[in-house]
Amino acid sequence: MTSPLLEVQNIWAGYGSGDILQGVTLRIERGEIVATIGRNGVGKSTLMKTIIGILPVNRGDVYLKGETITGLGAEHRAWCGIGYVPQGREIFPELTVEENLLMGETINARKQRPRYDLVYEYFPVLQERRRQSAGTFSGGQQQMLAIGRALIGRPELLLLDEPSMGIQPNIIQEIGRALVKLNQEEGLTILLVEQNTGLIAQVAHRAYAMDKGRIVATLSQEKLADRNALVQYLAL
Ligand SMILES: Nc1ncnc2c1ncn2[C@@H]1O[C@H](COP(=O)(O)OP(=O)(O)OP(=O)(O)O)[C@@H](O)[C@H]1O
Ligand SMILES: [Mg+2]
Repeated sequence: MTSPLLEVQNIWAGYGSGDILQGVTLRIERGEIVATIGRNGVGKSTLMKTIIGILPVNRGDVYLKGETITGLGAEHRAWCGIGYVPQGREIFPELTVEENLLMGETINARKQRPRYDLVYEYFPVLQERRRQSAGTFSGGQQQMLAIGRALIGRPELLLLDEPSMGIQPNIIQEIGRALVKLNQEEGLTILLVEQNTGLIAQVAHRAYAMDKGRIVATLSQEKLADRNALVQYLAL
């Protein structure tokens, strides 16, 4: 049996005084799009930061393709094939689109050719505006740029923290379509944190519901299509 792409085993992590994550266990198979849902402050971003390695694990283990990456820092984990788009995007507003994308090349240690063609194919607006400074962009365009920057590093697993935040509905749908296509055509595996029920139903194959630093339910795709059920988990 092949190992899952990502396996998180009973991890405990936080910001110094006490653990926010209280024994989180999950697994993501190659080719999946999995959402992590839950109300504000339950630890969704903390989970993402612990998987990419910005936050150390106090207890438990993180495995990528069957090998432990628990002791590796964020840079090494990126080199191993994990891309990360933080909540709030964190693009460089004073730099151009091209310069922002160039930053993404530094996290590609596997020395594969950076795929600007791929990024521009999925997000044509980035090519049209490649010489403009990113600070002049709308929220949606900045999100596309943040995703593009992560894609330049050629990840196998993309971690996306609330991509819909502060973005108008039609652009959320456009980003959703790009994510589904990246998954289907490029084989990209995606773990996203999301609270937007439309985007969750549009892209996710299943979801983990979190509360108080723990996974409290696993939801199937059928369940995700039921907006009323979903809202209950978002308002746990
Ligand atoms: N840098 C930090 N230092 C100390 N505590 C933090 C820090 N970041 C988050 N926390 C705390 O950790 C807990 C979980 O926060 P986290 O950001 O993971 O929640 P979240 O589920 O992503 O919420 P949201 O939906 O609002 O983004 C909260 O109680 C928060 O106050
Ligand atoms: Mg968050």
